[in-house]
Amino acid sequence: MIIAANLKTNLTRAETLEYLKSLESCLSKSSITQEVLVFPATSSIVAHNGKIIVGAQNAHGAIKGAFTGEIGSMHLDEFGIKTILIGHSERRHVLGESQEELVKKFDFYKNLGFKIVYCVGEPLEVRESGFDNMMEYISKQYEGIDTNYENLIIAYEPVWAIGTGLTPTNEDIASLHKELKKKSASALLYGGSVKVSNAKEVLSIDAVDGILVGGAALNAQDFCEMCKIAQEIEKN
Ligand code: 13P
Repeated sequence: MIIAANLKTNLTRAETLEYLKSLESCLSKSSITQEVLVFPATSSIVAHNGKIIVGAQNAHGAIKGAFTGEIGSMHLDEFGIKTILIGHSERRHVLGESQEELVKKFDFYKNLGFKIVYCVGEPLEVRESGFDNMMEYISKQYEGIDTNYENLIIAYEPVWAIGTGLTPTNEDIASLHKELKKKSASALLYGGSVKVSNAKEVLSIDAVDGILVGGAALNAQDFCEMCKIAQEIEKN
């Protein structure tokens, strides 16, 4: 399974170093063999040797250049980063990234062989407009994306479930993931208000290959607990 932490705009570099140290120690004590990804804030990106794969929450689709406020692949290379998150709803909806821009970014990092966690998901009003509308909305987020890319991981994150404590029912997640698996055979994560207390339930759902966790991953011990839960489920 794939257990991923999106630390968003939290944890300084010093705190991130501490986080990675305590997470590594917990993972090794618990003999975790799952794939564990951590996405720190851009200024907290560090070169990391260990079980955890450190990825970038964002970078521009260029090696370098005149893109004020952005970083390029050259800045990721400096830290040995080969994993990137693309299409998170906060970038789509809060920061206004269009599908066209995301596709360009996707292609750029695909050509560099990056592992890409590509996020899709619908806002509440779309979900409430019926299943067909919702699928049409989500399908548009697949447009232009190479769904056969071997280093692709997809994360389904309903926008209304992010940071709200609300989650779809297990049946909803199961049927959505079944639909999305028809679009791509890549690993499919669920994200949106996953925490220690519901991780077992979510990770046990068919066609859920892992989780992408925000708020509840900010505590390394809690995130490690979720990795242990995944390990247990995979054993059974
Ligand atoms: P929360 O786990 O805080 O709901 O955030 C989910 C998320 O956006 C992960 O990318």
